[in-house]
Amino acid sequence: MTRVLYPGSFDPVHNGHVEMVETAAGLFDEVVVAALINPSKGDALFDLEERMALLDESFAHLSNVRTTMFDGLVVDLAGEVEADFIIKGLRAVSDFESELQMAQMNMAISGVQTLFLPTASRRSFMASRLIREVARLGGDVSQMVPDPVRARLQDRFPG
Ligand code: PNS
Repeated sequence: MTRVLYPGSFDPVHNGHVEMVETAAGLFDEVVVAALINPSKGDALFDLEERMALLDESFAHLSNVRTTMFDGLVVDLAGEVEADFIIKGLRAVSDFESELQMAQMNMAISGVQTLFLPTASRRSFMASRLIREVARLGGDVSQMVPDPVRARLQDRFPG
């Protein structure tokens, strides 16, 4: 039985994340998707509770996926949920440097290993920051996010 932890800000979850979770759900016995605080990012659009509710709705179709939220170190959560590995998605080489550094830090402080999964190239431009920006300015992001997220963005930014 292999359980993996997929942590992220998920502010909000988008279809690149969905692809990653669907892939992981096929590769591993259980996937725990966790909304966490990224201390290097500024004000969030959605609070942790809202982000987790959107994760719940977005992954309701996957029986071996559960969601949680956590305000602390990702490696502490990995220990709490007894994850064998942390998984992270890589969209492009530009993700690699910071993800490698985080993986090495997490390994150094806890011994938890991180596995990287590549995103399909057709989704490599998707980023929560850009999706928030486009939605805020009235652009159409409906093809990039799960339907519950589309509805929630519409509530936040009624055109
Ligand atoms: O979706 P993101 O913003 O790239 O996810 C980054 C996240 C939330 C996984 C990262 O900031 C994180 O692990 N935050 C929890 C605090 C922590 O453990 N920091 C040390 C990372 S080496």
